[in-house]
Amino acid sequence: MSNKEILLRLYEVMRPYRLKLFIAMISMICVAGFTGTQAYLVKDLLDKIFMEKDTFYLKLLPIVVIVIFFLKGIVYYIYTILLEQVGQSVIKDFRVNIFNHIHKQSLTFFGSMPTGTLMSRIISDVALLQQAVSNALVGVIRDFFQVVILLGVVFYMNWRLAMISFVVLPVAAFPIIKFGRLFRKLSTSTQEETAHVSNILHETITGNRIVKAFCKEEYEGNRFLEQVRRLFTLTMKDAKYRCMQHPLMEFIGGIAIAAIIWFGGLQVIDGTATPGTFFAFLTALIAAYEPVKGVTRINSTIQQGLAAATRVFSILDVEPEIQDKKNATQLAPFASEIELKDLNFQYNHEAPVLKNINLTVPIGEALAIVGPSGGGKTTLTNLIPRFLEIKDGAILIDGTDIRDVTVTSLRNQISMVTQQTILFNDTVRNNIAYGEENSSLDRIIEAAKAAHAFDFIEALPQGFDTIIGESGARLSGGQRQRLSIARAIFKNAPILILDEATSALDTESEREVQKALENLMKDRTTFVIAHRLSTIKNADRIVVVKDGEIIEEGTHDNLIARRGEYELLYNMQYK
Ligand SMILES: Nc1ncnc2c1ncn2[C@@H]1O[C@H](COP(=O)(O)OP(=O)(O)O)[C@@H](O)[C@H]1O
Ligand SMILES: [Mg+2]
Repeated sequence: MSNKEILLRLYEVMRPYRLKLFIAMISMICVAGFTGTQAYLVKDLLDKIFMEKDTFYLKLLPIVVIVIFFLKGIVYYIYTILLEQVGQSVIKDFRVNIFNHIHKQSLTFFGSMPTGTLMSRIISDVALLQQAVSNALVGVIRDFFQVVILLGVVFYMNWRLAMISFVVLPVAAFPIIKFGRLFRKLSTSTQEETAHVSNILHETITGNRIVKAFCKEEYEGNRFLEQVRRLFTLTMKDAKYRCMQHPLMEFIGGIAIAAIIWFGGLQVIDGTATPGTFFAFLTALIAAYEPVKGVTRINSTIQQGLAAATRVFSILDVEPEIQDKKNATQLAPFASEIELKDLNFQYNHEAPVLKNINLTVPIGEALAIVGPSGGGKTTLTNLIPRFLEIKDGAILIDGTDIRDVTVTSLRNQISMVTQQTILFNDTVRNNIAYGEENSSLDRIIEAAKAAHAFDFIEALPQGFDTIIGESGARLSGGQRQRLSIARAIFKNAPILILDEATSALDTESEREVQKALENLMKDRTTFVIAHRLSTIKNADRIVVVKDGEIIEEGTHDNLIARRGEYELLYNMQYK
């Protein structure tokens, strides 16, 4: 992405705030004007008061100084607070945009983007971007006015001396440009390493039990140290250049001052300039050089911001794979059958995962999907709510292609219980009525009872108002699964997908979960991926999926009688 493109897009983002930016800019010009006046006053101070001993000026000047500093303070406040507001608003907008954008993405996106990276985009890259917007980009504008006005004062007072600044400015520009390139490159690497740090943090904190179980604290500690060390090296490299540029710019400024003392001193001595002019000139020039020096610092912020913007935009530019068509309709309430037709699927140009799947599931049927792991069962069920995009073949609900209806209307008709129970760090109540803030407690209790979760919820310290910890950390595995079943029951959707919802449970809680599932499957159309015989035996029909293909299909008794793959699986797993 070129600088120009990035700036144009940033401008688009800032457009809503352009009035505020405009007012801020006017205030900046005023501040620059007052600074110029301050420098000019030095001339009167020296010539009128010190040389001519004029008592009128002695009375006037202190008042003028107070007024100028007071007014300058006010406009300074106005523009800094406005810029802060715009900068923070831009951050807020960006964060919300990225958040919403990420949640529109399909499962394949999350497969390729680690959580830590995404978090570091939303938190740290956006903050860098804000720095660039509110401090730097605008700082450049302010400094530009300041330099122009002060140079105006300088030329007005003594144009011959002022010519010196034309020698200094290009010399000063050289390191600014040179360092800018370095900063940009370093910033990109720094942010990438920062993202790796967040990834390690995320993985090891959420996976702390495995780290403990394998006694890998030291291993993870070293991995983290290694990563933090890489970040440290980069940051120090960046710091080296940042710390170097200030003295360098000072030195260049010093040379200019020396030149002015020499030539200006000569003029004062031979009488072509007054001491007042000389000092006012020097004050103005030093004041003008201040922002020039600042440009290097601002420049590093801008370069970092531009690099951050590139990364932020690159996420915003990932078109969600799954989107509503322009003329997408609402999916009518499910009434007759779901048909999977000539379905083929593969993840990102890898080997095919599903091959030529044809399957019709009438309303009310409980269909069990069994088969060796890695066979494509989860992938198959993820296609139905359009978590993954179908590119070859189709899924029809009551004859309507699911790609022709809105994603929301499709997913509203599907309840899911996944193998990995996903719960939120919130109350039991809010987990069951996920996202439905004003639901009645009666309905929630009803769902909890149907899920055989009521008794254990009642026994929790605050009952339905107990906060269950991250991913339900304060509950047992069986309780978590029953809670996610309660959530699915509460949603009350006609189509149900159960992906190994009873795996990893002991017999006791399995019996509870089993009863819960039976309640859930009543009057619903169910796709159930199961290891447990009890679940499978209750199913109306069983399909065996192996290597992405449906190889057998029928009732339990039929399939056993066939003495094929199912019988093999059955004998291996359940006997
Ligand atoms: N996000 C993904 N990206 C790439 N390949 C995947 C992804 N998810 C699953 N697969 C692959 O697809 C195949 C089927 O996986 P899955 O549907 O989870 O099988 P099952 O649920 O039957 O165990 C496996 O070979 C797996 O490696
Ligand atoms: Mg699976």
